[in-house]
Amino acid sequence: MLNLKGRSFLTLKDFTPREVRLMLETAKQLKNNKLTGVPNKHHEGKTIAMLFEKTSTRTRCAFVTGARDLGMHAEFLGKDDIQLGKKESVRDTALVLGRMFDGIEFRGFSHDTVEELAKYAGVPVWNGLTDKYHPTQGLADMLTIKEHVGHLEGAHLAYVGDGRNNVANTLMIVSSLLGLHYSVGTPKELFPDPALVEECRALAEKYQTGATIRVVENPYEAVTDADAVYTDVWVSMGEEDKFEERIRLLKDYQVNQDLMLATRKNNTKFLHCLPAFHDKNTKVGKEILEKYNLDAMEVSDDVFYSKNSVVFDQAENRVYTIEAVMDLTL
Ligand code: CP
Ligand code: NVA
Repeated sequence: MLNLKGRSFLTLKDFTPREVRLMLETAKQLKNNKLTGVPNKHHEGKTIAMLFEKTSTRTRCAFVTGARDLGMHAEFLGKDDIQLGKKESVRDTALVLGRMFDGIEFRGFSHDTVEELAKYAGVPVWNGLTDKYHPTQGLADMLTIKEHVGHLEGAHLAYVGDGRNNVANTLMIVSSLLGLHYSVGTPKELFPDPALVEECRALAEKYQTGATIRVVENPYEAVTDADAVYTDVWVSMGEEDKFEERIRLLKDYQVNQDLMLATRKNNTKFLHCLPAFHDKNTKVGKEILEKYNLDAMEVSDDVFYSKNSVVFDQAENRVYTIEAVMDLTL
């Protein structure tokens, strides 16, 4: 019997394929229970802390609703609410919060911060996104692909865009663990870190998952025969000074109908972790798109709202996958 009690959830790299599959099976069960009115209150009376240095809609709300569904209280601690990083070190904050809470979520900039929190807290720490990894997102994406493509092993997931951001890194890790064929179409300047590619290949080899990783410059080549095409923003949180450079590098990497046709399949699913720059209906989107004379950035509006787009199912699945991670580690 697998037991994940007390474990932190930081990159996914330290979990075995069996453990990751258990997280997905648990998520599915929690989701079925919720949808059929069966209570999931396995952790009544517990309290979790949610630390956010960066903004969030999905992750924050998924932790709150997931915690509530398990019978717990979730306390939001924004960057201006606590002493962390100003009057108190990460280590001391971890030691304090670990005495008060049953688990700690952290979203922020440096990945080292979440590692240090986990080192000293004495309770499970869950990574809600750092500059390098977004593991709760990767888990929700796998549940969504399983639901819509039907299988994970042997499925072809193509990622197009910024090939070295937190979401892309995580998709490469989780694909390696679960036996997907992961291909990334990205310019040379944004190739994933070769050390991480090697680490992922080593995971696939260690567990004999059959996963492959392909890094190419041509987005059309990356998506050929894909079962799922994934993209994310061209400029991640904390990189807001890079719009000009990224638009120059990535303008030919937009996921649009042309690119979807290159999959040579009719039912290839479109995925995006959200939020997305697909129209001018946001303040930042309007400003940037008008400045650079674009209709959309990483995905065209018609693909975003197409029948093959599963982006809102991904968002919904954030709740049950995060809930599963909390349920299993608490
Ligand atoms: N996908 C995701 O993490 O969304 P938020 O930034 O809204 O949490
Ligand atoms: N790569 C994006 C993901 C947002 C959920 C960012 O870090 O901003």
